[in-house]
Amino acid sequence: MLAYYLEQSRKTVDASGLEREGIVTFSLPIEPAEFAAPLEKIRTRRGYVEMDEIHLAPNTPDIEALCAKFFQEHLHTDEEIRFVTAGGGIFDIRDRHDDWLRVHIDAGDLVVIPAHSYHRFTLDERRTITCKRLFKDTSGWTPVPRDIESTD
Ligand code: LAC
Ligand code: NI
Repeated sequence: MLAYYLEQSRKTVDASGLEREGIVTFSLPIEPAEFAAPLEKIRTRRGYVEMDEIHLAPNTPDIEALCAKFFQEHLHTDEEIRFVTAGGGIFDIRDRHDDWLRVHIDAGDLVVIPAHSYHRFTLDERRTITCKRLFKDTSGWTPVPRDIESTD
């Protein structure tokens, strides 16, 4: 995982710097047999009861539309949890001063975007990612776009 500000001369931010912004990260093994136990521990401790998997690649149906949607700044009223098992991607997450933090995620990275934090996602130059999505409950998990909220 590599994190830095898009502004501020791309100043890098380490895991504790991310944590000060409420962004929790874990580095897990890449092999399923090895990440199963630590992932289970995180799930139990943080109350993530649901899990599914998403795979994005150039041949994914509607990939352009999906990517355009993910790159629109939005928030969720619950945490967004992603554990990358292959490929990678880029999350831009607003810090408390509304500055963009860019977080590159790769296989083995688990990132928790706090509830109510604006963010956006894009694929990196590999154009492919496989990640597990973890959720706290089964209720609706709908993105709230920034432009709608700011007109309230
Ligand atoms: C999501 C990510 C892309 O909401 O932010 O699924
Ligand atoms: Ni999101």
